[in-house]
Amino acid sequence: MSILVVGGAGYIGAHVVRLLQQRGEEVVVADDLSTGQAARVGDALLIEVDIAAPGAAESLETAMREHAVDSVIHFAAKKQVGESVLRPAWYYQQNVGGLANLLTAMEAAKVGTMIFSSSAAVYGMPDVELITEDGTEPRPINPYGQTKLIGEWMMAASERAWGLRWSALRYFNVAGAGWPDLGDPAVLNLVPMVLDRLARGERPRIFGEDYPTPDGSCIRDYIHVLDLAQAHLAALDELRDPVLAEEGAVGQAFNVGTGVGISVKEVIEEIGAASGLDVTAEIEPRRAGDPPRLVASPEKIGDVLRWKAEHGLSDIIRSAWEAWQAGPRRIG
Ligand SMILES: NC(=O)c1ccc[n+]([C@@H]2O[C@H](COP(=O)([O-])OP(=O)(O)OC[C@H]3O[C@@H](n4cnc5c(N)ncnc54)[C@H](O)[C@@H]3O)[C@@H](O)[C@H]2O)c1
Repeated sequence: MSILVVGGAGYIGAHVVRLLQQRGEEVVVADDLSTGQAARVGDALLIEVDIAAPGAAESLETAMREHAVDSVIHFAAKKQVGESVLRPAWYYQQNVGGLANLLTAMEAAKVGTMIFSSSAAVYGMPDVELITEDGTEPRPINPYGQTKLIGEWMMAASERAWGLRWSALRYFNVAGAGWPDLGDPAVLNLVPMVLDRLARGERPRIFGEDYPTPDGSCIRDYIHVLDLAQAHLAALDELRDPVLAEEGAVGQAFNVGTGVGISVKEVIEEIGAASGLDVTAEIEPRRAGDPPRLVASPEKIGDVLRWKAEHGLSDIIRSAWEAWQAGPRRIG
């Protein structure tokens, strides 16, 4: 039996592929390489397919049968919030359409287990200290977040219709690298944005210093990508075990975070400490849609999947810095 990792050539997916291979699992990757890179999957079999294209359901079904797939881990999506506001139909087509094709193929090929990359973006702008899955109502404020919530609904409907066993992992702020060759290649999140500015000889930017937080900058919950990857293995093990799965993991969404809030200023200071560079920042106006604080309660994932983050901010930043320095835009 094998595990199909859809979007496995991307930043997070490649970490899961490597961990699965390290523990001896058979892994097949499906990816259109739109933002991923073939080199990231190592010697795992890579099937190049755009899951949102016409005919994709049939090719995915064939691949599932040929490789005796028993579980799917689904990362493949477009993930830029701003772009999703400008191109909503395309985001729905890619993220919702792609998932529809994947679920069609799974039902036809009788593949019954699925782990889905959801996001803290499903919550929108909650005004709470700690976000809980069952106490904080999801209210996404942009098409990207909407596609993730709809994805969860589609899996819940597939569970009712044909017995899909699924879990959604709602990632908070992912950063760092498990290996220096698997750093985040995109400049979309805070840590790569700061490193990108430093690489250009520019000062890092802070968007808003007048939030109601202790140092005035926004607070987020930073999760090491390797801890996040481990959470997928924990969910997979639970879903594959019929007894454990019925006890709690099936049909559930889990926050993947630490419960610890860290400010933008603290992250930038830590980058200064790891790199030895001057990280004096420029203060810019607030950006629309940035809530002051987004921190996960990790209680549910701890209770049900027995998963807990092992790495703190210094590990995250040190590993991100090492990965940046191993790449083509080395600083200094
Ligand atoms: N990185 C984050 O901070 C973060 C936070 C929350 C949720 N997520 C979600 O996690 C998942 C993975 O994110 P990532 O950071 O690794 O992004 P990524 O862009 O590095 O990875 C996505 C992968 O999916 C592939 N892909 C995209 N569209 C495809 C399509 N139509 N057909 C086939 N392959 C396709 C890309 O080529 C890429 O390899 C995404 O679903 C994203 O929305 C990411």
